[in-house]
Amino acid sequence: MNATTEAKIRTLNKNGNFCYTITMKSPTIKSNSYVLRPFKTSDAVLWQKWDIDPEVQAFMPEPFNEVQDIEEQYKYIDECEADEEGFYWSIETKDGLTIGTLALTEINSYHEVADLGIVIGDKNYWGKGVATEVLTTLVSYAFEHLNVSRISAEIEEGNVPMMKVLERVGFKEDGLFESARIKNKQRITVRHFGIIKPIDQHE
Ligand SMILES: CC(C)(COP(=O)(O)OP(=O)(O)OC[C@H]1O[C@@H](n2cnc3c(N)ncnc32)[C@H](O)[C@@H]1OP(=O)(O)O)[C@@H](O)C(=O)NCCC(=O)NCCS
Repeated sequence: MNATTEAKIRTLNKNGNFCYTITMKSPTIKSNSYVLRPFKTSDAVLWQKWDIDPEVQAFMPEPFNEVQDIEEQYKYIDECEADEEGFYWSIETKDGLTIGTLALTEINSYHEVADLGIVIGDKNYWGKGVATEVLTTLVSYAFEHLNVSRISAEIEEGNVPMMKVLERVGFKEDGLFESARIKNKQRITVRHFGIIKPIDQHE
């Protein structure tokens, strides 16, 4: 694993205490076979396809029913870049093929927590260990460099592939939220998972 930029700076908050503020673009992070890099405008065309693929969207909270306007997608890229509480990446193969997205959002630098999101939009890459590899790398990177000590993930009941991935990466299930979302006019259960920075890695 290696990274090309530092991703946080230490500042004073309004109470006069030191805190970490995220001010930079998402750092580029490499795993053995994939590269996590900041979004590019060319990604938006791929998202237009992934957003309306029923298999890709099956367990997502807000599936789209129609192609999103490209200008809206560009606006979304700008919003992600401006988001001081989130890092967003595209997942690229070493050959330069963009196959998915990954995000750490709702980063709270005081409590050192973040939420995880991942989509492998290119279904040719499902079941090949991509999510397991990139999440293993991202979790280590976040614990080491992003001032994060706990990462949370939530999945809809029935998302067996994502549950397998989370458990393999070391997440533990820590909550079951019955009837937490509506999907296809049915109330569904959401399962919460978390992974905590090992004690020997704390400063
Ligand atoms: C969930 C997702 C990220 C997994 O990515 P991936 O790169 O295919 O994951 P991996 O290959 O590392 O592991 C997936 C595991 O699930 C297994 N799997 C795949 N489909 C399965 C199914 N229908 N039933 C049971 N297991 C299944 C795979 O065989 C693999 O397990 P194994 O290595 O023990 O065989 C990907 O499928 C995806 O992006 N789905 C759509 C978006 C989504 O649901 N994101 C998560 C929202 S919280």
